[in-house]
Amino acid sequence: MGLRPIGELVRPGLGELQPYRVPVHPGVIKLDANENTYDFPEQVLRDIFGAVDAQTFVRYPDPDAEDLRAALSDYTGVPAARISVGNGSDELIQNLMLTFAAGGKVVIATPTFGMYAIHAVIAGAEPVVLPRNADFAVDPEAVIAAAARPGVRMVVLCSPNNPTGNTIPPEVTAEILDRTGTVVVLDEAYYEFCGETAVSLLDRNPHLVLLRTFSKAFGLAGLRVGYMLAGREVTEAVGRVKQPFNVNAFSQLAATRLLKWRPVFERCIGEIRRSREELLAGLRRVPGVTAYPSRANFILFHTSLPGPRVYEGLLERRVLVRLVDGPDLPGCLRVSVGRPDENAAFLEALEETIVSRR
Ligand SMILES: Cc1ncc(COP(=O)(O)O)c(C=O)c1O
Repeated sequence: MGLRPIGELVRPGLGELQPYRVPVHPGVIKLDANENTYDFPEQVLRDIFGAVDAQTFVRYPDPDAEDLRAALSDYTGVPAARISVGNGSDELIQNLMLTFAAGGKVVIATPTFGMYAIHAVIAGAEPVVLPRNADFAVDPEAVIAAAARPGVRMVVLCSPNNPTGNTIPPEVTAEILDRTGTVVVLDEAYYEFCGETAVSLLDRNPHLVLLRTFSKAFGLAGLRVGYMLAGREVTEAVGRVKQPFNVNAFSQLAATRLLKWRPVFERCIGEIRRSREELLAGLRRVPGVTAYPSRANFILFHTSLPGPRVYEGLLERRVLVRLVDGPDLPGCLRVSVGRPDENAAFLEALEETIVSRR
């Protein structure tokens, strides 16, 4: 028998999947990934490196991340038995898809974070797109109706939502939970920038899953640490698909130590929140720009020029933002809130781009 073309051997369904591509442009002002762009605090860095010893790297990491989960229990008020950690919340999204959605359908309220649909397809689940309202609000009736459709096992919501920046009011989440039979995932990756959470709904709702990350407010995007708060049954089920050593030893140690330094990060988060409002006001002063209010550390905006022209114009001026232009967000871009100097450079580059019309 002759060799079969690789394309014929690739699992059906993966053929059309476009990998998540992240443009790399060294040396630019990087405001495209909603990281915390402040320098990592020196004293926290020293504390973390002071805790590394000659055994830290030679042993496999703790598969249960006991220390980190205990520290997270202290931070969130959720018992450690109902906390799981992942190699970024990306891994947890994938594990949730593998556990619940594979072979079925998952409702995703869009426009939103693109990885939900990508992980759905990777897991062999069918993403069902549920458009948000024109003001980006989630319509609970529409979610409840979509979740009741045959084959749907999970619903994914995001609050504050990437890239639109608005939150889902807790009473809307509560209503969706009361009248939906599926697992409901609420991604709170940007929770620290708004302070609004559905944690208080966890005890009464065993189908609710909250996702959080250290990549945004806590400045640990490079170390890949996310976590999930859920009921015992969901935690146990997702534990079945988890890789045993998913979060490496250094990342576990760094995230655990970091939580002891929360006041340092809270000051920085406060500065980012203040800068966000200044950036919003600055954007609104640029001719032809519509900028949407945000509860996160990024702002969605639209200009009178085509989105790709604005993106390229900014890049020529060494500022990288995210082009989110598409059928559901025509002409839109998303900029992360950076340090004041970065925000000022971005605004200047945007004005120049729009005034020079290229
Ligand atoms: C809403 C949302 N969820 C999850 C993630 C991924 O976070 P992590 O770095 O923990 O994988 C992001 C990153 O941009 C995000 O915007």
